[in-house]
Amino acid sequence: MTKDSSGDVRLSGISKTYGAFTAVHPLDLTVPQGSFFALLGASGCGKTTTLRMIAGLEEPSGGTVSLGEQDVTNLPPYKRPVNTVFQSYALFPHLDIFENVAFGLRRRGIKSVKKQVEDMLELVQLGEQARKKPHQLSGGQQQRVAVARALINHPKVLLLDEPLGALDLKLRRQMQLELKRIQTEVGITFVHVTHDQEEAMTMADTVAVMNAGRVEQLGSPADLYENPRTTFVANFLGTSNFIEAEVDTRSGDEIVLRAGGGKLVLPGARCSAPAAVGGKVLVGVRPEKISLTHADEAGGIPEGRNRITGRIADSSFIGVSTQYVVDSPVCPEFEVYAQNIDRDPRLVPGAEVVLHWNPAHTFGLDAAQSLLAGTTGSAGIETVAEEAAR
Ligand SMILES: Nc1ncnc2c1ncn2[C@@H]1O[C@H](COP(=O)(O)OP(=O)(O)OP(=O)(O)O)[C@@H](O)[C@H]1O
Ligand SMILES: [Mg+2]
Repeated sequence: MTKDSSGDVRLSGISKTYGAFTAVHPLDLTVPQGSFFALLGASGCGKTTTLRMIAGLEEPSGGTVSLGEQDVTNLPPYKRPVNTVFQSYALFPHLDIFENVAFGLRRRGIKSVKKQVEDMLELVQLGEQARKKPHQLSGGQQQRVAVARALINHPKVLLLDEPLGALDLKLRRQMQLELKRIQTEVGITFVHVTHDQEEAMTMADTVAVMNAGRVEQLGSPADLYENPRTTFVANFLGTSNFIEAEVDTRSGDEIVLRAGGGKLVLPGARCSAPAAVGGKVLVGVRPEKISLTHADEAGGIPEGRNRITGRIADSSFIGVSTQYVVDSPVCPEFEVYAQNIDRDPRLVPGAEVVLHWNPAHTFGLDAAQSLLAGTTGSAGIETVAEEAAR
């Protein structure tokens, strides 16, 4: 049996300009049938524009959109096997839940809608609520009605534009799992737009990180997190520490770098920069990969680990972990997350420490880019924590 590709979304050189401004640069992208795909990026990077071009709500300035084998670039929205769920779910306030979901079927002149609507309400776990009006439901329930109302038309592709944006953090987490369950159950292609990295990572099989109208990197959540190819991706997905280093030697799969007075080892396969001997590389390492040892105990650190020295500037107890900020000659604010298992009581601000990690957990990036790309404040990015604090 050949694989069903009727729900593939294929974008070939698709672009959108508004006068002199380019909202989406020519973009090539294939979303395979049945996958949960997320477009992730900060406000204004072109996510909605891309989604609207797939839906046919926006005319591309160039390029083509195909669904399965069919080029739909010139088809109006209602002729595309696609449905969209928006942030404002816009349910019909005067119709009950049943009729809201039945709407698409009735409009197509289908008379016996009962079974289909009931199945759909079952899928989104709202069977009991069929005769309520939208205002009698919670935000999360209303959002599920919007999903049911779109799915009942049996689209090949469901497009979701920040569908959980209006919900509070806790409900949003719940709905993320719910949407993922629904997608697995119906098995159709979901293209989900969000600016929330945790949301994209929780839900999607594949994430495209967008930055200023371009897809900067595409991959599975784990791959993007472990192997970011730019500082933007490294900072936008979680937190990264960077050390500017110079290539000392290369042998086999190992790159040895000089930073400050010391040496660091980087696996060649994890370096996306050219890394010629004498050239510069940004050495990256995630905060949870690092161990912190009091300087007095440094003799006990096993051989072969990457190590730098520093002084604890700040520490915050988070419960599952303690987050340290360490000032080091090679990096002013090194972040380290330590699980709270056996805490050394000497690890307090002012303490001299050695930070050490397995060289395999190091990644290397091109040094000719801003260390701050993709961080909070550099592009108006809100973190989940900030949002929760509001
Ligand atoms: N009709 C328009 N005319 C001119 N510029 C537009 C128009 N629509 C969108 N833009 C611009 O295109 C860029 C991308 O917009 P888009 O709505 O795709 O962003 P987004 O990634 O969805 O952002 P957000 O997360 O805030 O929804 C923005 O800079 C926006 O101002
Ligand atoms: Mg948008």
